[in-house]
Amino acid sequence: MSSQDSNDPRLEQAAATDDSIISAHEKASEGRPDVDGNYRLIPLVLLFVFSGFIFFGGTYLHRYTGYFSPEIFDERQHAGGAVTEAPQIDPVVLGKKQYDLACMTCHMPNGQGLPTVYPPLVESEWVTGSEKRLIAIVLHGLKGPITVKGNVYSVAAMPAFGQVAGGGYNWSDQKIAAVLTYIRQEWGNTAGAIETATVTAFRERGDRKEWIEAELLELP
Ligand code: HEC
Repeated sequence: MSSQDSNDPRLEQAAATDDSIISAHEKASEGRPDVDGNYRLIPLVLLFVFSGFIFFGGTYLHRYTGYFSPEIFDERQHAGGAVTEAPQIDPVVLGKKQYDLACMTCHMPNGQGLPTVYPPLVESEWVTGSEKRLIAIVLHGLKGPITVKGNVYSVAAMPAFGQVAGGGYNWSDQKIAAVLTYIRQEWGNTAGAIETATVTAFRERGDRKEWIEAELLELP
């Protein structure tokens, strides 16, 4: 045994007899109320009430949660599981979102662009005119001089929002159709909507790099 062990006060207590321990406890608990009195059985009725809750909860989960299946809260889903119809997305709402996200920085929130750098979309003949030319510009991008409302712009380039060789934002046809519909009908522009199918048909002509004005003018 090391000298440290022999100094341990707990070894001293080991010398106490059972009697001395019992009498010490009796002394300590003298004058205290009966401790057992603090433990009362809960009323039996509560046991039934809580069992009732648990039963109700179980039944409720079983009846209404659809086994926690992810499809169960899909509002497009029938009870039988058949999809009724695609959700109706207002193209102008989606288009505005896309515009604010991606076009606004250059063409400005009011669609007026920036003089000599970014051409305006308001009353632009490219926006309100040929659908194909407009789709081409946004799908594949544009570079080089372009005349918009009598002014020539050639300083910057217009990025591609579809899929082009070597990049592009790769937006869906639906998003492109929506943003084009939006710019054709915002700020007093009154051209017709552009259908997603029209964008799809144009895209199917194949990938290409950005357009120049002369090529665009060859499109109907
Ligand atoms: C990085 C700046 C930039 C962004 C972002 C941008 N554009 Fe452009 N856009 C241009 C420039 C620059 C031109 C002119 C290109 C040229 O000079 O060849 C242009 C031209 C156009 C034109 C043809 C000219 C006109 O004013 O009518 C249209 C239409 C157009 N952009 C629509 C859009 C749409 C829609 C978006 C968003 C999906 C968008 N642009 C995002 C810079 C941008």
